[in-house]
Amino acid sequence: MSSTGSTSTSALTIPRPQTPYQGDIARYWDSEARPVNLRLGDVDGLYHHHYGIGDVDHTAIGDSDDAQHEERLVAELHRLESAQAAFLLDHLGPIGRGDTLVDAGCGRGGSMVMAHQRFGCSVEGLTLSSKQAEFANARADELGIADHVHARVCNMLHMPFDTGQIAASWNNESSMYVDLHDLFAEHSRVLAVGGRYVTITGCWNPRYGQPSKWVSQINAHFECNIHSRREYLRAMADNRLVPQTVIDLTSATLPYWRLRATSSLVTGIEDAFLNSYQDGSFQYLLIAADRI
Ligand SMILES: C[S@@+](CC[C@H](N)C(=O)[O-])C[C@H]1O[C@@H](n2cnc3c(N)ncnc32)[C@H](O)[C@@H]1O
Repeated sequence: MSSTGSTSTSALTIPRPQTPYQGDIARYWDSEARPVNLRLGDVDGLYHHHYGIGDVDHTAIGDSDDAQHEERLVAELHRLESAQAAFLLDHLGPIGRGDTLVDAGCGRGGSMVMAHQRFGCSVEGLTLSSKQAEFANARADELGIADHVHARVCNMLHMPFDTGQIAASWNNESSMYVDLHDLFAEHSRVLAVGGRYVTITGCWNPRYGQPSKWVSQINAHFECNIHSRREYLRAMADNRLVPQTVIDLTSATLPYWRLRATSSLVTGIEDAFLNSYQDGSFQYLLIAADRI
C-alpha cells in the first residue's frame, strides 16, 4: 500500500476501499466464482452477474433424461441473462461511436462487451473488485476491443470522469450496495445534459409495507442493502434524473428463477427470490431516466 492509499499491479491501480463495507464487498466479489456465473459465461464468453428475463424455450432444453440436458439448460439460463442486458441497452437511447458509456458496478464485464458490440462506442467499467476488473480487461484483450472497453477498480460514488462527459450510464444489479442519493448525484454529475441513466434492480415494494423476511434473506446472502421503489424514484428526482420509463420486470424474471431452481447450479437463494416476487414484497424493475 502506498502513502496515497492505493496499490498498483502492472495493469491496475487498486485504491484503498473508502469504507470497511466497501472492503467487504471487494473481498466478496474477489472470491466469487460460483458455477452459476462462470459456467453460464463459458457458453459464449459474455460473463454476467445478474439474472435473466423472458420466457424459457423448453424445446431448446429438451427432456431431463437427455444426456445434453444440463448443458442446454445452462445455455438457456445464459440466453435469458444476456436478454436482460440487451433489454437494458435498448433503453440507453441513441448512442454514437464516439460516445463514452459508464457501467457502474460492471462485474466481469459482459454488459460492457455487449454495449460496445452494439454501438461501437467506448465503455468504462467500475468495480470494487480487482479480480473482476482484471477478468473484464483480459476478455476485452482477447476480443481485440481493449481500446474501447476498459474496467478499473474504483468506487462508483467517486467516478474518475469530468462533469458532463458521459452520454449514458447504468447500474445493472449494482445499486443495492450504496446510498442512492450519493449514487445518483454522481451519475448526474458525469452525465451530459440530455444523457440517459438506466438501472435494472431488485427493490422492495412499498405497497408491502417494509422489507419482507425474504428480502432480508437476500440482503444477508449478498451482503447488500436493497432499497425500496420509493427510494429510487425520490433519489432520482432529487438529482435531476427524470424517469422516462419504469418497467416492472417481476413476471419476466420468474421463468429464469423457476428454471434455475431445477438446475444443479442452485446456490440456496432461489426460494427467497421466488417467494418474495410471488408475495409482492420484492420487484424487479427497469428505470430509464433522462438527465435534465
Ligand atoms: C451483482 S454484481 C453486478 C455486475 C454487473 N453489473 C453485471 O450485470 O454482471 C455487483 C457489482 O457491483 C459492484 N459494486 C458494488 N459497490 C460498488 C461501488 N461502490 N463502486 C463500484 N462498484 C461497486 C461490485 O464490485 C460488483 O461488480
